[in-house]
Amino acid sequence: MAMNTPHTLRASDLLFPTPVSIEDRDGSYRLHSTTTIAASPPFEETADTAAALLGCKRGGEDILFKHIEGLDDEEYRLSISTVQVVITASTTRGAFHGLSAVRKLALINDNILPACRVCDKPAFVWRGFMLDCVRHFFSVDFIKKLIDAASLFGLNRFHWHLTDDQGWRIPIDGWPKIEEIASRRSELQYNDGRTYGRLYTKEEICEVQAYAHKRQMIVIPEVETPGHVSALLAAYPEFGCTGGPYEVQDRWGIFNEVLCAGNDAMLAFFEDAIAQVATLFSDPYIHIGGDECPQSAWEACPKCQARMKAEGLTGEHQLQSWLTSQICAMVHKNGKRPIGWDEVLDGTEEMGLPDDLIVQSWQGIQGGLEASRRGHQVIMSPNTVGCYLDYRHRDSAEEMGNLGVSTLRQVASFTATPPQMDEQAKSMVLGAQGNLWSERVLSARQAEYLLFPRLQLLAQQLWNPREADENLNRIELLTKYCEKLDIHCYRGAVE
Ligand code: ACM
Ligand code: ZN
Repeated sequence: MAMNTPHTLRASDLLFPTPVSIEDRDGSYRLHSTTTIAASPPFEETADTAAALLGCKRGGEDILFKHIEGLDDEEYRLSISTVQVVITASTTRGAFHGLSAVRKLALINDNILPACRVCDKPAFVWRGFMLDCVRHFFSVDFIKKLIDAASLFGLNRFHWHLTDDQGWRIPIDGWPKIEEIASRRSELQYNDGRTYGRLYTKEEICEVQAYAHKRQMIVIPEVETPGHVSALLAAYPEFGCTGGPYEVQDRWGIFNEVLCAGNDAMLAFFEDAIAQVATLFSDPYIHIGGDECPQSAWEACPKCQARMKAEGLTGEHQLQSWLTSQICAMVHKNGKRPIGWDEVLDGTEEMGLPDDLIVQSWQGIQGGLEASRRGHQVIMSPNTVGCYLDYRHRDSAEEMGNLGVSTLRQVASFTATPPQMDEQAKSMVLGAQGNLWSERVLSARQAEYLLFPRLQLLAQQLWNPREADENLNRIELLTKYCEKLDIHCYRGAVE
């Protein structure tokens, strides 16, 4: 007879993010290597993934993926009894989330799945994380580890920051100096000529995408324009206003050397580069950057001034939006949708921007409010309320981290649709992202420490937003998940 002693862990104690609806039942199902998995179409591939991730075999119906019509895109139902596990969904995304729930229970409870019934679906469609692989380079193995963990907790967007002042990491055929020069920087802290960095190979980029897609995660490459381009300018100085020379930077910050908006050769490069990126990356989005672009070089550049005159632009802000529109047109030409940091809104009130440009609000929530007012869809990643995961966990000199503080409580109470938004604005919010910039993140272990458990808390707030205290009461559970996943998470004070 199944007994529910006080020591028996219930599924509702173990699942995170907390499902929208969960009913604990008596007994459990024990997962083992002879457990079999079956699927009705179109879930055969999900069942293959499940067999691999759970260490089971295809064959019988111990675990059954069942297709029904009528559930939402990512919605799933999970029923665990003492004799069978049934996952029901309308889409492969829903089926995958059901699999993740089973996997979490197995992982955290030594393969014993407490009986339960779950009905679950996410609150927001865009549930993402960004990893800066320029300031420091992260291996494909580590990126896969992060994608796996993030997807387990219901995240579905990997924003891959691949170009910046300190390096360029995407191979572009026909432009050999991208690899020779832009992909590496000198390490000026050493006096022995060392360099740092490299490109990801096309094979590695495809490997990351295939791995992510198995986990229903979309990959968004970011190609920075028109600022944060020192690495590109070092390789092709003719794309800058002065012609250089420029250096791949080994310092952090904002640099005045930016793309020369008056230079047609620069535009020709991006025509080609964006087309190649659009081919190499199969998902529908390309992030075009747009943040932190000083305009002093444009003020002093005859070519930029000539462009402004020719296009009837009245100031450098308008020149930036003209350039943003050019780059967006290249993205569109390749069948993709552009995303930009919130500065893409600056100076564009009169000129407008392509309607389908998604704005990522990072300087607080203001960009999100403004973008939604102007009819753009929005991704929230405000650095003021917990979405910057390179910030310290707490305001202490003993903590690693850069620039600011994002406390566990801030993330645990994060809302992608803050009360300052009216209903119209809220309707434009796709979701949110946690961003890990890596100026001061030298290694994968350090990245883990900064990401976890904050990324798990953010996942909860995007899946099924709860009160901060309810989330913070589950930190021990999150830490235990990290242990099982070999993730070295922050275990300090909860502030
Ligand atoms: C940013 O943090 N500069 C987008
Ligand atoms: Zn110029």
